[in-house]
Amino acid sequence: RRLRRILSLDDFENEARRHLPRPIFGYVSGAAETNASLRDNRSAFRELGFLPRVLVDVSKRTQKVELFGRAYAAPFGIAPMGISALSAYRGDLVLAQAAGRANIPMVMSGSSLIRLEDVVKANPEAWFQAYLPGEPDRILGLLERVERAGFGTLVLTVDTAVLANRENNVRAGFSTPLRPSLRLAWDGMIRPNWTLNTFLRTLLKHGMPHFENSYATRGAPILARSVMRDFGAKDHLNWRHLELIRERWKGCLVIKGIMSKEDACTARDSGVDGIIVSNHGGRQLDGTVSPLRALPMIVDAVGATIPVMMDGGVRRGSDVLKAIALGAAFVFVGRPFVYAAAIGGEAGVSHAINILASEISRNMGLLGINSLDEMHPDRLLRLSGVAG
Ligand code: FNR
Repeated sequence: RRLRRILSLDDFENEARRHLPRPIFGYVSGAAETNASLRDNRSAFRELGFLPRVLVDVSKRTQKVELFGRAYAAPFGIAPMGISALSAYRGDLVLAQAAGRANIPMVMSGSSLIRLEDVVKANPEAWFQAYLPGEPDRILGLLERVERAGFGTLVLTVDTAVLANRENNVRAGFSTPLRPSLRLAWDGMIRPNWTLNTFLRTLLKHGMPHFENSYATRGAPILARSVMRDFGAKDHLNWRHLELIRERWKGCLVIKGIMSKEDACTARDSGVDGIIVSNHGGRQLDGTVSPLRALPMIVDAVGATIPVMMDGGVRRGSDVLKAIALGAAFVFVGRPFVYAAAIGGEAGVSHAINILASEISRNMGLLGINSLDEMHPDRLLRLSGVAG
């Protein structure tokens, strides 16, 4: 019933604000330092307007796309988000199942609270995102486990050389591991739905949420110290490790977090199959420009050879179409899907997917196109003087 009130992806955020304890909502919705990049991710879309064509037969519209030799039902997928099972009961499984049913890709986060073997069982087409340390032995060990589990696509996130400034998490009362506090207890009491259906249900059925991700040999309560260790490791991942990964990983290899054309070229020359232009939803270096702004130059540099995808601030079908017009082969959406899982479980995520897909279809009709190949830069006009 709650879902019937939700008519757009932004509506999920408003509902989630009421549903989730403040520290957890803050963790999902927030970004780094001043949130400048988070805001820019949205404003970049607002600075572009459409030039629709009329009196076109649009009865044969399709938003199906082919990516890495596979047909998907829509040009968007679910971005990897860590510790989703803290927001929604068995969050990663919910996201994986809804995506599988809708035939769109779902990227499982390497910072998940759910075992990767369980996620791939729920959706054999799911992709796996990894944060890798610069230690060849551990890299190879992880690749082996991910391959053995049955993942076909590996997304390597590379914008996390050091941990971002988490001051907004501190303000929201979110810590890792989550520390019991009066505020958290009070928050849980006034949000019984989350407390009963997510937290206590997890606790009773699966024990204290543990990090059973790829690095952890032993789980650590709520947020893994082992992941922290990887971020702080002396041996950082570098381009030489990427060559090793490419040599060993026989599946599809995607690199996520590229923002410059130089890095895009190096990645392409290292043999990656695709690139996700991303500023991590504004959660790493605050002040990084929106991926939508960097997209055209990266497409210009490598778009002819490998698919260039993007994420960050995509909330409407019109946003998806703008990114595609600027050369994106595919887009990913993050936060709204976790809110949807938190509020409505698998039905919530399916609802979110349907909303976005119908907006794309409707907007294609209003733009006068039948296929996404028709979205070119000349369908857009850059507006000036748009207030953020
Ligand atoms: C993320 N993101 C992320 N990325 C990644 O590669 N590995 C991860 O574990 C996470 N974890 C994570 C947690 C949460 C709560 C959020 C909101 C984001 C970044 C994510 O994949 C994606 O780049 C952005 O979220 C996209 O921006 P939007 O759609 O949220 O605006």
